[in-house]
Amino acid sequence: MKILGIETSCDETAAAVVEDGVKVLSNVIASSIDLHQVTGGVVPEVAAREHLKQISPVVDKVLAEASCEWKDIDAIAVTTSPGLIASLLVGINTAQTLAYIHKKPLIEVNHVHGHIYANFLEREAHPQFPLLVLTVSGGHNELILMHDHHKFEKLGETLDDAAGEAFDKVARLLGLGYPGGPIISKLAENGNPAAFKFPRPMLNKENKFNFSFSGLKSAVRREVEQLEQANDQTIADLCASFQQAVIEVLVDKLVLATQEHKIKEVHLAGGVSANKLLRQVAREKLPDKLQVFWPIEQIFCTDNAAMIAGAGYFSTK
Ligand code: KG4
Ligand code: ZN
Repeated sequence: MKILGIETSCDETAAAVVEDGVKVLSNVIASSIDLHQVTGGVVPEVAAREHLKQISPVVDKVLAEASCEWKDIDAIAVTTSPGLIASLLVGINTAQTLAYIHKKPLIEVNHVHGHIYANFLEREAHPQFPLLVLTVSGGHNELILMHDHHKFEKLGETLDDAAGEAFDKVARLLGLGYPGGPIISKLAENGNPAAFKFPRPMLNKENKFNFSFSGLKSAVRREVEQLEQANDQTIADLCASFQQAVIEVLVDKLVLATQEHKIKEVHLAGGVSANKLLRQVAREKLPDKLQVFWPIEQIFCTDNAAMIAGAGYFSTK
Protein backbone atom coordinates (compact mmCIF):
# COMPACT_ATOMS: atom_id res chain seq x y z
CA MET A 1 0.00 0.00 0.00
CA LYS A 2 1.47 3.35 -1.05
CA ILE A 3 0.62 6.44 1.00
CA LEU A 4 1.34 10.05 0.09
CA GLY A 5 2.21 11.92 3.29
CA ILE A 6 1.92 15.70 3.67
CA GLU A 7 3.41 17.67 6.57
CA THR A 8 3.24 21.47 7.03
CA SER A 9 2.89 21.95 10.80
CA CYS A 10 5.85 24.31 11.24
CA ASP A 11 8.48 25.61 8.81
CA GLU A 12 9.04 22.54 6.61
CA THR A 13 6.84 21.94 3.57
CA ALA A 14 7.17 18.19 3.21
CA ALA A 15 5.74 15.34 1.17
CA ALA A 16 6.73 11.68 0.93
CA VAL A 17 5.59 8.43 -0.64
CA VAL A 18 5.92 5.45 1.70
CA GLU A 19 5.09 1.83 0.97
CA ASP A 20 3.56 -0.35 3.69
CA GLY A 21 4.39 2.16 6.40
CA VAL A 22 8.16 1.72 6.39
CA LYS A 23 9.69 1.76 2.90
CA VAL A 24 10.42 5.34 1.87
CA LEU A 25 10.10 5.66 -1.92
CA SER A 26 10.63 9.41 -1.94
CA ASN A 27 10.96 12.13 0.68
CA VAL A 28 10.99 15.84 -0.23
CA ILE A 29 11.45 18.67 2.24
CA ALA A 30 11.42 22.39 1.35
CA SER A 31 12.45 24.35 4.40
CA SER A 32 11.88 28.06 4.98
CA ILE A 33 14.55 27.99 7.70
CA ASP A 34 16.68 30.66 5.96
CA LEU A 35 13.87 33.18 6.40
CA HIS A 36 13.48 32.30 10.08
CA GLN A 37 17.21 32.53 10.74
CA VAL A 38 16.89 36.29 10.26
CA THR A 39 14.35 36.53 13.10
CA GLY A 40 15.87 33.87 15.35
CA GLY A 41 12.67 31.81 15.32
CA VAL A 42 9.69 30.82 13.19
CA VAL A 43 7.30 33.66 12.28
CA PRO A 44 3.94 31.87 11.71
CA GLU A 45 2.72 34.25 8.98
CA VAL A 46 5.98 33.90 7.04
CA ALA A 47 5.95 30.10 7.39
CA ALA A 48 2.36 29.82 6.12
CA ARG A 49 3.05 31.99 3.07
CA GLU A 50 6.09 29.84 2.21
CA HIS A 51 3.98 26.67 2.49
CA LEU A 52 1.54 28.15 -0.02
CA LYS A 53 4.38 28.73 -2.48
CA GLN A 54 6.02 25.34 -1.95
CA ILE A 55 3.26 22.79 -1.47
CA SER A 56 2.30 22.11 -5.11
CA PRO A 57 5.88 21.82 -6.43
CA VAL A 58 6.81 19.61 -3.46
CA VAL A 59 3.91 17.20 -4.11
CA ASP A 60 4.70 17.07 -7.84
CA LYS A 61 8.37 16.42 -7.10
CA VAL A 62 7.73 13.66 -4.57
CA LEU A 63 5.45 11.75 -6.96
CA ALA A 64 8.00 12.08 -9.77
CA GLU A 65 10.86 10.91 -7.53
CA ALA A 66 8.82 7.87 -6.45
CA SER A 67 8.00 7.20 -10.12
CA CYS A 68 4.34 7.23 -9.12
CA GLU A 69 1.23 8.43 -10.86
CA TRP A 70 -1.97 9.19 -8.98
CA LYS A 71 -3.36 5.76 -9.80
CA ASP A 72 -0.47 4.21 -7.80
CA ILE A 73 -1.34 6.10 -4.60
CA ASP A 74 -3.74 4.31 -2.23
CA ALA A 75 -4.33 7.04 0.36
CA ILE A 76 -3.23 10.48 1.52
CA ALA A 77 -2.07 11.09 5.12
CA VAL A 78 -1.80 14.61 6.46
CA THR A 79 -0.75 16.24 9.73
CA THR A 80 -3.81 17.84 11.31
CA SER A 81 -2.42 18.85 14.75
CA PRO A 82 -0.57 20.08 16.76
CA GLY A 83 1.23 22.90 14.99
CA LEU A 84 0.95 26.45 13.71
CA ILE A 85 -2.65 26.76 12.59
CA ALA A 86 -2.08 28.74 9.36
CA SER A 87 0.70 26.33 8.37
CA LEU A 88 -1.38 23.24 9.15
CA LEU A 89 -4.28 24.59 7.08
CA VAL A 90 -2.14 24.74 3.94
CA GLY A 91 -1.36 21.02 4.22
CA ILE A 92 -4.88 20.05 5.25
CA ASN A 93 -6.56 21.99 2.42
CA THR A 94 -4.10 20.57 -0.10
CA ALA A 95 -4.63 17.01 1.12
CA GLN A 96 -8.42 17.38 1.17
CA THR A 97 -8.46 18.80 -2.35
CA LEU A 98 -6.16 16.11 -3.75
CA ALA A 99 -8.16 13.37 -1.98
CA TYR A 100 -11.37 14.72 -3.51
CA ILE A 101 -10.01 15.14 -7.04
CA HIS A 102 -8.22 11.78 -7.14
CA LYS A 103 -10.80 9.89 -5.06
CA LYS A 104 -8.39 8.74 -2.34
CA PRO A 105 -9.10 8.11 1.35
CA LEU A 106 -7.74 10.82 3.65
CA ILE A 107 -6.01 9.86 6.90
CA GLU A 108 -5.54 12.43 9.68
CA VAL A 109 -2.27 12.13 11.59
CA ASN A 110 -1.13 13.70 14.85
CA HIS A 111 2.32 15.26 14.39
CA VAL A 112 3.78 13.85 17.63
CA HIS A 113 2.60 10.35 16.71
CA GLY A 114 4.25 10.95 13.32
CA HIS A 115 7.58 11.54 15.09
CA ILE A 116 7.22 8.17 16.82
CA TYR A 117 6.59 6.41 13.49
CA ALA A 118 9.75 8.04 12.09
CA ASN A 119 11.66 5.53 14.24
CA PHE A 120 10.16 2.56 12.38
CA LEU A 121 10.99 3.85 8.87
CA GLU A 122 13.44 1.76 6.84
CA ARG A 123 13.82 -0.82 9.62
CA GLU A 124 13.42 -4.49 8.96
CA ALA A 125 12.65 -5.43 12.57
CA HIS A 126 9.15 -4.74 13.82
CA PRO A 127 8.78 -2.67 17.00
CA GLN A 128 8.32 -4.74 20.17
CA PHE A 129 5.47 -3.49 22.33
CA PRO A 130 5.07 -2.18 24.94
CA LEU A 131 7.76 0.40 24.23
CA LEU A 132 8.69 3.71 25.79
CA VAL A 133 9.17 6.83 23.65
CA LEU A 134 10.65 10.18 24.53
CA THR A 135 9.40 12.65 21.91
CA VAL A 136 11.58 15.74 22.10
CA SER A 137 11.22 18.59 19.66
CA GLY A 138 10.85 22.32 19.38
CA GLY A 139 7.10 22.10 19.94
CA HIS A 140 6.63 19.02 22.12
CA ASN A 141 8.29 17.07 24.88
CA GLU A 142 6.45 13.98 26.02
CA LEU A 143 7.11 10.62 27.61
CA ILE A 144 4.79 8.07 26.03
CA LEU A 145 4.12 4.42 26.73
CA MET A 146 3.08 2.74 23.50
CA HIS A 147 1.11 -0.47 24.08
CA ASP A 148 0.55 -1.31 20.41
CA HIS A 149 0.26 0.53 17.09
CA HIS A 150 -1.62 3.76 17.81
CA LYS A 151 -2.25 2.82 21.45
CA PHE A 152 -0.54 5.64 23.32
CA GLU A 153 -0.48 6.33 27.05
CA LYS A 154 1.04 9.69 27.92
CA LEU A 155 3.11 9.42 31.13
CA GLY A 156 4.26 13.03 31.20
CA GLU A 157 4.91 16.18 29.22
CA THR A 158 6.48 19.58 29.51
CA LEU A 159 4.69 22.13 31.65
CA ASP A 160 6.28 25.02 29.73
CA ASP A 161 9.08 24.96 27.14
CA ALA A 162 9.97 21.83 25.19
CA ALA A 163 13.64 20.79 25.22
CA GLY A 164 14.17 21.87 21.59
CA GLU A 165 12.51 25.20 22.34
CA ALA A 166 14.93 25.68 25.25
CA PHE A 167 17.86 24.98 22.89
CA ASP A 168 16.41 27.54 20.44
CA LYS A 169 15.82 30.20 23.11
CA VAL A 170 19.25 29.79 24.71
CA ALA A 171 20.87 30.02 21.25
CA ARG A 172 18.96 33.23 20.63
CA LEU A 173 20.03 34.78 23.91
CA LEU A 174 23.64 33.86 23.14
CA GLY A 175 23.22 35.38 19.65
CA LEU A 176 24.04 32.06 17.96
CA GLY A 177 21.25 31.71 15.40
CA TYR A 178 18.39 29.31 14.63
CA PRO A 179 17.70 26.43 15.09
CA GLY A 180 19.59 26.33 18.36
CA GLY A 181 19.97 22.58 18.91
CA PRO A 182 22.54 21.76 16.23
CA ILE A 183 24.50 24.99 16.89
CA ILE A 184 24.66 24.53 20.67
CA SER A 185 25.58 20.84 20.47
CA LYS A 186 28.40 21.65 18.03
CA LEU A 187 29.83 24.43 20.22
CA ALA A 188 29.41 22.23 23.32
CA GLU A 189 31.99 19.80 21.89
CA ASN A 190 34.71 22.29 22.91
CA GLY A 191 33.11 23.26 26.22
CA ASN A 192 33.26 22.04 29.81
CA PRO A 193 29.86 20.64 30.90
CA ALA A 194 30.77 21.27 34.56
CA ALA A 195 31.83 24.91 34.07
CA PHE A 196 28.43 26.34 35.06
CA LYS A 197 26.11 24.83 37.67
CA PHE A 198 22.68 24.91 36.07
CA PRO A 199 19.58 23.44 37.76
CA ARG A 200 18.19 19.99 36.86
CA PRO A 201 14.51 20.94 36.83
CA MET A 202 11.56 18.69 37.81
CA LEU A 203 13.63 15.90 39.30
CA ASN A 204 11.10 15.67 42.14
CA LYS A 205 8.54 13.00 42.96
CA GLU A 206 5.34 14.93 42.24
CA ASN A 207 6.36 15.67 38.69
CA LYS A 208 8.38 12.57 38.07
CA PHE A 209 7.41 12.24 34.39
CA ASN A 210 6.78 15.91 33.60
CA PHE A 211 9.35 18.36 32.27
CA SER A 212 10.01 22.09 32.64
CA PHE A 213 12.82 23.90 30.90
CA SER A 214 11.90 27.57 31.24
CA GLY A 215 13.67 27.90 34.63
CA LEU A 216 16.83 26.44 33.16
CA LYS A 217 16.66 28.94 30.29
CA SER A 218 16.28 31.78 32.84
CA ALA A 219 19.29 30.45 34.78
CA VAL A 220 21.38 30.65 31.59
CA ARG A 221 20.10 34.20 31.00
CA ARG A 222 21.09 35.29 34.54
CA GLU A 223 24.54 33.79 34.07
CA VAL A 224 24.97 35.58 30.72
CA GLU A 225 23.87 38.91 32.22
CA GLN A 226 26.48 38.59 34.97
CA LEU A 227 29.32 37.89 32.58
CA GLU A 228 31.55 40.87 31.97
CA GLN A 229 32.99 39.43 28.85
CA ALA A 230 32.08 36.28 26.95
CA ASN A 231 34.88 34.84 24.85
CA ASP A 232 34.55 31.78 22.63
CA GLN A 233 35.53 29.43 25.46
CA THR A 234 32.91 30.89 27.81
CA ILE A 235 30.23 30.46 25.14
CA ALA A 236 31.33 26.86 24.57
CA ASP A 237 31.23 26.21 28.34
CA LEU A 238 27.75 27.74 28.61
CA CYS A 239 26.55 25.56 25.73
CA ALA A 240 28.09 22.40 27.20
CA SER A 241 26.75 23.07 30.72
CA PHE A 242 23.26 23.89 29.45
CA GLN A 243 23.17 20.84 27.15
CA GLN A 244 24.36 18.58 29.98
CA ALA A 245 21.53 19.80 32.24
CA VAL A 246 18.85 19.20 29.57
CA ILE A 247 20.12 15.75 28.65
CA GLU A 248 20.49 14.61 32.28
CA VAL A 249 16.88 15.53 33.02
CA LEU A 250 15.56 13.84 29.87
CA VAL A 251 17.49 10.62 30.48
CA ASP A 252 16.83 10.47 34.25
CA LYS A 253 13.10 10.49 33.53
CA LEU A 254 13.49 7.85 30.85
CA VAL A 255 15.37 5.63 33.30
CA LEU A 256 12.72 6.14 36.00
CA ALA A 257 9.95 5.23 33.53
CA THR A 258 11.74 2.00 32.58
CA GLN A 259 11.92 1.09 36.28
CA GLU A 260 8.20 1.61 36.79
CA HIS A 261 6.86 0.09 33.58
CA LYS A 262 7.62 -3.20 31.92
CA ILE A 263 8.80 -2.30 28.43
CA LYS A 264 10.71 -4.00 25.64
CA GLU A 265 12.35 -1.07 23.80
CA VAL A 266 13.18 2.59 24.28
CA HIS A 267 12.81 5.15 21.48
CA LEU A 268 14.10 8.70 21.15
CA ALA A 269 12.07 10.67 18.62
CA GLY A 270 11.73 14.24 17.32
CA GLY A 271 14.27 16.93 16.45
CA VAL A 272 16.27 16.65 19.69
CA SER A 273 16.75 12.91 19.10
CA ALA A 274 19.46 14.03 16.64
CA ASN A 275 21.51 15.12 19.68
CA LYS A 276 24.61 12.92 20.07
CA LEU A 277 24.92 13.41 23.82
CA LEU A 278 21.28 12.41 24.36
CA ARG A 279 21.86 9.19 22.43
CA GLN A 280 25.11 8.45 24.26
CA VAL A 281 23.81 9.14 27.79
CA ALA A 282 20.59 7.19 27.11
CA ARG A 283 22.64 4.18 26.01
CA GLU A 284 24.93 4.50 29.06
CA LYS A 285 22.24 4.94 31.71
CA LEU A 286 19.53 2.58 30.48
CA PRO A 287 19.83 -1.12 31.34
CA ASP A 288 21.88 -3.12 28.80
CA LYS A 289 18.99 -5.45 28.03
CA LEU A 290 16.93 -2.59 26.63
CA GLN A 291 17.65 -1.58 23.06
CA VAL A 292 17.56 2.17 22.44
CA PHE A 293 16.39 3.35 19.01
CA TRP A 294 16.35 6.67 17.20
CA PRO A 295 15.49 7.45 13.58
CA ILE A 296 17.71 5.48 11.21
CA GLU A 297 18.47 8.62 9.17
CA GLN A 298 19.11 12.11 10.49
CA ILE A 299 16.47 13.50 8.13
CA PHE A 300 13.78 11.47 9.92
CA CYS A 301 14.58 13.16 13.29
CA THR A 302 13.27 16.57 12.30
CA ASP A 303 9.97 17.32 10.57
CA ASN A 304 9.29 15.25 7.45
CA ALA A 305 6.30 13.67 5.73
CA ALA A 306 7.60 10.08 5.55
CA MET A 307 6.80 9.77 9.26
CA ILE A 308 3.26 11.04 8.60
CA ALA A 309 2.72 8.49 5.83
CA GLY A 310 4.14 5.77 8.14
CA ALA A 311 1.83 6.72 11.01
CA GLY A 312 -1.09 6.94 8.57
CA TYR A 313 -0.44 3.43 7.26
CA PHE A 314 -0.42 1.81 10.71
CA SER A 315 -3.61 3.62 11.72
CA THR A 316 -5.43 1.74 8.96
CA LYS A 317 -4.25 -1.67 10.24
O1 KG4 B 1 10.90 17.86 15.18
P1 KG4 B 1 11.34 19.21 14.77
O2 KG4 B 1 11.90 19.38 13.38
O3 KG4 B 1 10.21 20.28 14.89
C1 KG4 B 1 9.21 20.29 15.86
O4 KG4 B 1 8.27 19.46 15.74
O5 KG4 B 1 9.35 21.12 16.78
O6 KG4 B 1 12.42 19.67 15.85
C2 KG4 B 1 13.10 20.88 15.77
C3 KG4 B 1 13.80 21.10 17.09
C4 KG4 B 1 14.43 22.48 17.21
O7 KG4 B 1 14.05 23.03 18.45
C5 KG4 B 1 15.93 22.19 17.16
O8 KG4 B 1 16.70 23.11 17.89
C6 KG4 B 1 16.00 20.80 17.76
O9 KG4 B 1 14.85 20.13 17.26
N1 KG4 B 1 17.21 20.07 17.36
C7 KG4 B 1 18.19 19.71 18.24
C8 KG4 B 1 19.21 19.11 17.46
N2 KG4 B 1 18.81 19.11 16.16
C9 KG4 B 1 17.58 19.70 16.11
N3 KG4 B 1 18.28 19.87 19.56
C10 KG4 B 1 19.40 19.42 20.17
N4 KG4 B 1 20.42 18.85 19.51
C11 KG4 B 1 20.38 18.66 18.17
N5 KG4 B 1 21.41 18.09 17.55
ZN1 ZN C 1 8.10 17.94 14.77
